[in-house]
Amino acid sequence: MNDKAPGSLTVTLEGTNRSATLPLKHGSIGPSVVDIRRLYNDLGVFTFDPGYGATASCESRITYIDGDEGVLLYRGYPIEQLAEKSHFIEVAYLLLNGELPNAQQLAEFDRGVRYHTMIHEQLRRFFDGFRRDAHPMAVMCGVVGAMAAFYHDNLDITDPRQREIAAFRLIAKVPTIAAWAYKYSIGQPFMYPRNDLRYADNFLYMLNAVPTEPWVNNPILSRAMDRILVLHADHEQNASTSTVRLAGSTGANPFACIAAGIAALWGPAHGGANEAVLKMLSEIGHPKNIPAFIAEVKDKNSHTRLMGFGHRVYKNFDPRAKIMKETCHEVLGELGIKNEPLLEMAMELERIALSDEYFISRKLYPNVDFYSGIILKAMGIPTSMFTVLFAVARTVGWISQWKEMIEDPSQRIGRPRQLYTGPTRRDYIALDARP
Ligand code: SDX
Repeated sequence: MNDKAPGSLTVTLEGTNRSATLPLKHGSIGPSVVDIRRLYNDLGVFTFDPGYGATASCESRITYIDGDEGVLLYRGYPIEQLAEKSHFIEVAYLLLNGELPNAQQLAEFDRGVRYHTMIHEQLRRFFDGFRRDAHPMAVMCGVVGAMAAFYHDNLDITDPRQREIAAFRLIAKVPTIAAWAYKYSIGQPFMYPRNDLRYADNFLYMLNAVPTEPWVNNPILSRAMDRILVLHADHEQNASTSTVRLAGSTGANPFACIAAGIAALWGPAHGGANEAVLKMLSEIGHPKNIPAFIAEVKDKNSHTRLMGFGHRVYKNFDPRAKIMKETCHEVLGELGIKNEPLLEMAMELERIALSDEYFISRKLYPNVDFYSGIILKAMGIPTSMFTVLFAVARTVGWISQWKEMIEDPSQRIGRPRQLYTGPTRRDYIALDARP
């Protein structure tokens, strides 16, 4: 805390004698905030910030990003250290509870997740209602949302124990639903979760195993999957997390709130970008086409974006992209995949973009989605499942942020205001009097 920081901001409405003194609130690190809650009362004006680029929607102790320095901390721990030394279940505990677990806490938490992985048998029937070619993110929205119908009546979100059970159910069951969405799309039988497998192994098992063959776990893929889940687990107040918080602020069922987060994540500007990167690389087709593609991106009329590049917060490298790129080389090398054309293309695209004034001047760097799809493709994950995997990982971030919001004594229903520029009051015109 910077104890020399100023305590308030005084604003004056030009042409009037009205002014307001707005207190500054200081965090442990990062920008301070101006508390504007009295602004309308004192000056009769709102702030205006479409897209919330300069607006803090809440106080949080979970994740911190320094976009200029390319820093990402989960409860103060650098993402680089967690990606190298930790694993997803331990990171899930950290995000939910605020501290790294001791051995007993970790064992109990791990057991809690393992023993909630099965879903109600009647939930299976929801899959049959979808077309086989339905996008798995649509299935995720539907089936995770349907969990609210199974865990609603006895759910008291003001009870900490029930919030904890809801968190276990979501962290444990979302991978099962995700894997079954994939199995349904390829017409293979669902593989029930196994309590003897670690989280990432169990997810890969449910995705890839078949009843007719013994399952052989691949430690390379398990480690890569676990690291990808760690990298995607939480990320401050991004669009999908803000969606979960806003839905949760009304007291809505947490399963329904997570389904809302899944819907928001699906967009290509957000979690859908990993799928869009693979589509973009495939459409470019060959490194010789990169200059023409870059020219198209720079042509405002084309509305073409370099998917996997740019970020609202990072104006430097997304630290997750760096780790993902390293993991990409590791996984492809360990799988014996040499000269993967998509990776070659991605690296050439990155090299050209990072030396081009258009991207440099706009501080556009690779984000988490730029390399993740290449790893997932190498791991045999179908492109349509990339964002589903993002949702599996981000579920722990969403439920951690939801829990923090519910437990915040100052929490109120979210209700933004607006700048109205529509018609002023006017009287109704009868049909026969209209032009
Ligand atoms: C995620 O918020 C999070 O934390 C999200 C996330 C998480 O973990 O939750 O990190 C996950 O969503 C990562 C982002 C994945 N999306 C993409 O890769 C899609 C491509 N990128 C963008 O569309 C864009 O960069 C955003 C959406 C990520 C950020 O958009 P902003 O902050 O609203 O920036 P902007 O659209 O105002 O762009 C500023 C300028 C514009 O040019 P000018 O109008 O100033 O001339 O940069 C340009 C944009 O046209 N620009 C791009 C670009 N991204 C921004 N130009 C080409 N390609 C791009 N990718």
